[in-house]
Amino acid sequence: MITLDKVSKRFPGQDGFAVTDLSLQVDDGELVVLVGPSGCGKTTTMRMINRLIEPTSGRIAVDGRDVMEQDPVQLRRGIGYVIQSVGLMPHRTVGENIATVPRLVGWDERRIRERIQELVEMFALDGGLIGRYPSELSGGQRQRVGVARALAADPPVMLMDEPFAAVDPIVRERLQEQFLDIQARLRKTIVFVTHDIDEAIKLADRIAILNVGGVLEQYARPEELLRAPASDFVRDFVGPEPGLKRLSLMSVADIDVEAGPVVHPDAAADEAVAAMEPFGLDWATVLDPEGRVLGWVDRADVTGRARVGDADVKRFAAYVTSGSSLRSALDAIVSNRTQVAVVVDEQERYRGILSLEAVAKEIIT
Ligand SMILES: Nc1ncnc2c1ncn2[C@@H]1O[C@H](COP(=O)(O)OP(=O)(O)OP(=O)(O)O)[C@@H](O)[C@H]1O
Ligand SMILES: [Mg+2]
Repeated sequence: MITLDKVSKRFPGQDGFAVTDLSLQVDDGELVVLVGPSGCGKTTTMRMINRLIEPTSGRIAVDGRDVMEQDPVQLRRGIGYVIQSVGLMPHRTVGENIATVPRLVGWDERRIRERIQELVEMFALDGGLIGRYPSELSGGQRQRVGVARALAADPPVMLMDEPFAAVDPIVRERLQEQFLDIQARLRKTIVFVTHDIDEAIKLADRIAILNVGGVLEQYARPEELLRAPASDFVRDFVGPEPGLKRLSLMSVADIDVEAGPVVHPDAAADEAVAAMEPFGLDWATVLDPEGRVLGWVDRADVTGRARVGDADVKRFAAYVTSGSSLRSALDAIVSNRTQVAVVVDEQERYRGILSLEAVAKEIIT
């Protein structure tokens, strides 16, 4: 969908290149994140894609067409752009800001009104905000309006320059989750810029790591970047705990759970012990008749009792579901006294257990 072929940019009067010989390909529906230190040419790269800046050399094509051969105004209408620091027009209301491109491309008022409403809902903004001015919004609201405005005319391509930079970590996490949900439905082709490697790892299909001068250090899926950094620069940029970061990218659904020992409250003590033995464990999960997890008992708890249910059934500190990350599973393993993560479904019915070995196996290369 977007192709950069040996693109370089040197600004007039500058000695060095802002972007050097950059080749990148962004597939249809892919979310590519550009990361790198301040001044490494991220914004310049974005602005060359929608031709706000023209490259010194090289070629850029969007949807197979060279951007230099297209009318720049026409080109930009097909590309949603969230500029660094949001850039809402201060003297226009939220609704008017969102309506900017639809109005330019000649949508009728009714369609524009409906679109504003739809976007406001999509981004979980209060409808009462539509008539307000940007200065009357919180930082997080402004950023969502900025993204809504870029999406307004439903462009197939989006350029997003640090869209969530100016908000606190909690709001930011929420915006990222919403954004991922929306992207899962809309499947836009997106080039997204951030300083924050964790944001890149969380959002990206592929990450391009740029060094000073817009030199591409590595272009790879997040998992690959963490597993096999191409240079010391990438290794440093990715930062500490690459193994844990990789676990955060994988989910419980990606690996097989073990059956694990289970027992019902009505079972006799020796049945409980018999359930534990094949697994080499001295505890078992206690399930109610519907298969929901009541807790766990160990061998000493049940010894001398008529039924398992007469023992003190202890609660697990944490559960995970198939949608949980392996990082959460690891957290559950180290939090539970049984040293395993118990996997349950949405109805809290037992699915099995995950051991430390099973999780660790996934990140050993
Ligand atoms: N119009 C311009 N004229 C001259 N130099 C420029 C111009 N715009 C950008 N530069 C320079 O080009 C380099 C790349 O700038 P760019 O804005 O692309 O960086 P960036 O990676 O987006 O940085 P940040 O993370 O701080 O936003 C910088 O050294 C910057 O000073
Ligand atoms: Mg920038």
